[in-house]
Amino acid sequence: MDSLFHVVEAQQFNRELLTEIFAVTKEMEEVVSVYGSSILNRRIMATLFYEPSTRTRLSFESAMIRLGGSVVTTESAREFSSAAKGETLEDTIRIVEGYADVIVLRHYEGGSARLAAEVASVPVLNAGDGPGQHPTQALLDVYTIQKEIGRLDGISVAMVGDLANGRTVRSLAYLLTRYKDVKLYFVAPELVRMKADIKEYLSRNGVYFEEQEDLIEVVRQVDVVYQTRIQRERFGDRTKDYEAARGRYIVDTKVMEALSENARVMHPLPRVDEIDPAVDTDPRAAYFRQAHNGLYIRMALLKMVLAA
Ligand code: NCD
Repeated sequence: MDSLFHVVEAQQFNRELLTEIFAVTKEMEEVVSVYGSSILNRRIMATLFYEPSTRTRLSFESAMIRLGGSVVTTESAREFSSAAKGETLEDTIRIVEGYADVIVLRHYEGGSARLAAEVASVPVLNAGDGPGQHPTQALLDVYTIQKEIGRLDGISVAMVGDLANGRTVRSLAYLLTRYKDVKLYFVAPELVRMKADIKEYLSRNGVYFEEQEDLIEVVRQVDVVYQTRIQRERFGDRTKDYEAARGRYIVDTKVMEALSENARVMHPLPRVDEIDPAVDTDPRAAYFRQAHNGLYIRMALLKMVLAA
């Protein structure tokens, strides 16, 4: 069995470990159906969030509590933790590791999770590091694809929206290289196209990808449309650029007509206006089910780093 300690980036997972995580995740679905377990009794998880979050923080906290553990938390850590007084992230981590058995970190800077993991003696789980990565989201995304479509080898996925700043698509692209015959289609406004580092990694790992402009044409060929939000917070005062990128690709009923019957629409959420709410009642709209899978994935990760 591969051991799991820090969760920093999607490239750290090999196929065997992914299979194992998903098996534990499946068990966690059973555990939730009987209102939890006490395997993490007396363990404490700290959630340190320097950027806004609903799903990631609450699902991690719910996951810990469902397994019998406890939670200490600081949301808005930029304003409410000692970071506001000028404390470095490294110092904060050195303190929090004395109070908790695992640290879940969301930070506004890329690379911050790796930095935290370098100084921490307890596991650090990256819950999003700026425009870098969001590996636990990618795990729940891949778990969702497996559950909804029934396979991962041979899967074709359209990644749509902000592919330059979206950390979820970056991590998902890395994870999908672990499967065979995967095809990726990138559909992004000019200013936020997929970055070279990911494309190079895909090429090196023999994953087929192409960049396309016509969403409807792409949608006809894929099993999954993975829509994303234009990441306004990464544009700073470039409001014109943001406005130019926004609204370019919307998943609406017309897109759904082009999508095959067995395909799915996913989105890490939150959405702004890039999926028309009229799509929500379509059985192929998987994004709310996807978010619920986050609870099971995070229970599995906590179990594996703390109780295994
Ligand atoms: C994403 C994130 O924070 O990167 N949200 C999430 O964790 N589900 C996506 C986003 O904010 O657009």
